[in-house]
Amino acid sequence: MASNFNVRSAGGYEQLMGRWSRKLAPLFIDFAGLEDGERVLDVGCGTGSLTFALPTGAKVSEIAAIDYSPVFVEEAKRRNSDARITIREGDAMALPFPDGVFDRTLSLLVLHFVPDAEKAVSEMSRVVRPGGVVAAAVWDHLGGLPSMRMMWDTVAAQDDGARQARSRYLFQPMMAPNEMKQCFERVGLRRVEQSSLMIRMDYQSFDDYWEPITAGEGPLGKYVSSLDPSERAKTDAAVKAAYEGGQPDGPRSFAAVAWACRGVAPS
Ligand SMILES: C[S@@+](CC[C@H](N)C(=O)[O-])C[C@H]1O[C@@H](n2cnc3c(N)ncnc32)[C@H](O)[C@@H]1O
Repeated sequence: MASNFNVRSAGGYEQLMGRWSRKLAPLFIDFAGLEDGERVLDVGCGTGSLTFALPTGAKVSEIAAIDYSPVFVEEAKRRNSDARITIREGDAMALPFPDGVFDRTLSLLVLHFVPDAEKAVSEMSRVVRPGGVVAAAVWDHLGGLPSMRMMWDTVAAQDDGARQARSRYLFQPMMAPNEMKQCFERVGLRRVEQSSLMIRMDYQSFDDYWEPITAGEGPLGKYVSSLDPSERAKTDAAVKAAYEGGQPDGPRSFAAVAWACRGVAPS
């Protein structure tokens, strides 16, 4: 198994996460750095939130993007109108590129879904030139993502299967303090820096918040889809009560924090 990501549809992903990763992408580019003329690789491009933000960050000369999911690759290709961007299927743990061909190798919200995340970081390091930059970001599911955490906490209060799924979700790879930094250092990257990037996830209503999950997207969507009708009705009501917090349904805004790490390939 080369990916632990649950892909259903590109449109569903956009509603669940793409709309937020698009907001996170410019912050991540600022953190990772980007210069005119560079060749950049986006590892795990999904539907292209980072890929399509890169040309707005600098006059890059070339962007290669890979993803394990054919569904997302097809959607990203459909959206692409920039001749500098090439998108293809590929595995982060075995990048289909020779050594040292990129100036910068970036990965947004991917490493925690890769079965051997350290192998992926080592591959990102291999394909970047000496002195080039490797950077990655993942959500801080335990301490930094209250919108999703509130759903998981609510369903976990209801049954044991959900409690186990929640534990897996909260402690996915690279999310513990300093875990990503130590991984970057182990693969030989230098001057490794870690930071936190914050956006806000703004929802219009409970339906806007919960529908992407009930459509079956992501790990919680997979769990919710497995419930029988009575469990499902109980879960919907409990999550609605958590979202509303005793106030009328309507807009809610949640902070969302990602761990970000950047290192330089040895010269
Ligand atoms: C949460 S999405 C992030 C997508 C995009 N970077 C974004 O920020 O919207 C995680 C992505 O990682 C991809 N992925 C998971 N394992 C992978 C692997 N081994 N190689 C390449 N892509 C992988 C999934 O297919 C999915 O597109």
